[in-house]
Amino acid sequence: MISELGNAMVIFGGTGDLTKRKLVPALYNLLIEKQLPDNFFVVAVGRRDKTTEEFVEEMEIALKEFSRNSYDENIWKNLKSRIFYYRLNFDGTEEYLEFDTALCKLEHKYETRGNRMFYLAVSPEYFGVIVEKLHEYGLASDNGSFKRVVIEKPFGKDLESAKALSKHITHAFGEENIYRIDHYLGKEMLQNIMVIRFANAFFEPIWNNKYIDHVQITSTETLPVEERGGYYEKAGAMKDMLQNHLLQLLALTAMEPPVRLDTESIRDEKVKVLKGLKIYEEDEVNDYVVRGQYGPNEEMGFNGYRQERRTDPDSDIETYIALKMEIENFRWSGVPFYIRTGKRLKEKTVEVVIQFKSLAKILYLKELDEMMPNQLIIRIQPTEGVFLRFNAKKPGQTNDIVPVKMDFCQNCEIGYNSPEAYERLLLDAMKGEKTLFTRWDEVEYSWRFVDAIQNAWKKERPDFPNYEAGSHGPKVADDLIERDGRRWVNE
Ligand SMILES: NC(=O)c1ccc[n+]([C@@H]2O[C@H](COP(=O)([O-])OP(=O)(O)OC[C@H]3O[C@@H](n4cnc5c(N)ncnc54)[C@H](OP(=O)(O)O)[C@@H]3O)[C@@H](O)[C@H]2O)c1
Repeated sequence: MISELGNAMVIFGGTGDLTKRKLVPALYNLLIEKQLPDNFFVVAVGRRDKTTEEFVEEMEIALKEFSRNSYDENIWKNLKSRIFYYRLNFDGTEEYLEFDTALCKLEHKYETRGNRMFYLAVSPEYFGVIVEKLHEYGLASDNGSFKRVVIEKPFGKDLESAKALSKHITHAFGEENIYRIDHYLGKEMLQNIMVIRFANAFFEPIWNNKYIDHVQITSTETLPVEERGGYYEKAGAMKDMLQNHLLQLLALTAMEPPVRLDTESIRDEKVKVLKGLKIYEEDEVNDYVVRGQYGPNEEMGFNGYRQERRTDPDSDIETYIALKMEIENFRWSGVPFYIRTGKRLKEKTVEVVIQFKSLAKILYLKELDEMMPNQLIIRIQPTEGVFLRFNAKKPGQTNDIVPVKMDFCQNCEIGYNSPEAYERLLLDAMKGEKTLFTRWDEVEYSWRFVDAIQNAWKKERPDFPNYEAGSHGPKVADDLIERDGRRWVNE
């Protein structure tokens, strides 16, 4: 056990979806891995009237459904003895003082020396409100102990609102205590991208525009919007996926080697990529970005987005986007990055494809005219691994050439159960390790890029729905890449 981590974790939004699906299972799995300190406790804050006993019963049911490790009564008994439920209205005033008193009592009992981690698992309009109250009523004053705030996405709805929110939060906590969570960064294979690039002599020297033809980043889901229609109506694929997760994935794929492996050196390099993104002029947006929304698929019994719960029956929100992006620096000049993401598609995949340039048209290429290009595929979900596709002679008497694959699958081995992203991120936040959290300037440059697209979109109504639920996505996305003589890799 790591005893110096002793702290209180206060989850605002303790009765919400994220807490039961991700946070409580993550704590349970950390306890199994013996990563939690003895002097650690959780206070789940919600609006509903319920007792701690009722709350932990609900969490037990959720844990059985969502944890990657199976239920172990002793481990759960240990964790549940440290979980407390507290009813509080976020907009309240004096209630925060009473809450502070209740927290102090628990801190005394658990000897956590006042270390507090406030996790805001709440809808974004409450980020500023809660932080303000924590500051006003003294719950965030450091007094020689740490006070950290972990903030869920989306951080703002555009650059202006993100700046206002940042001002609010830094007033109460200071940048060093703000942990902007992007759960993609907690995924095993995302962390592996840097290792693959910077620990292998045969990748880094060719990781540039001299050898790479283009890069594809795909993140697709089979699930519909489910119960989150209210949230999704305001976010869409652009704010739900691109502004945060996919730009982070792009930054890791394209960044220069950091001078050191410390937090700020890595963040500095990621920021440079985001800063280097070509910002589209308003009249260019349609040439570089396409959007889609799923319609019903009667054969498969799937609703269209507009028929989902809590969505507008006339909604123009995008459930799919595809982009052609450019990074304006020496390494990447002339190399397009094609990105796509969407909901309710045929397959669930998160992957990065690096497609290498073809060789000169001599020797085999001269004879065969066309050969499969070399590809490096970094699979992030559902399988985790690295695949290398290259050309080899087909065994036998002929001289045919066929593409073959070299496969490293990290989670295909029986018994290997990768830690969930939230486990790593919660542990890092407790340790004060910030590499896997986004710095303000990363957020700022992401919004600069996204705002240019959103401003252009405001001026024209899309023709939705334009793809069938359960399909590969809208035809406009195929057109976007095929116009350049390339194709999406769908395997
Ligand atoms: N769910 C996910 O899988 C997921 C994934 C990634 C990111 N996120 C992000 O995580 C955050 C939370 O999402 P969620 O899906 O968990 O939301 P949610 O299910 O709607 O939960 C919202 C929580 O806020 C509480 N709440 C709302 N208004 C309140 C008030 N005035 N006073 C006190 N409590 C109040 C609710 O309490 P009551 O229920 O007691 O009313 C509930 O606990 C969002 O920023 C979301 O974007 C969620």
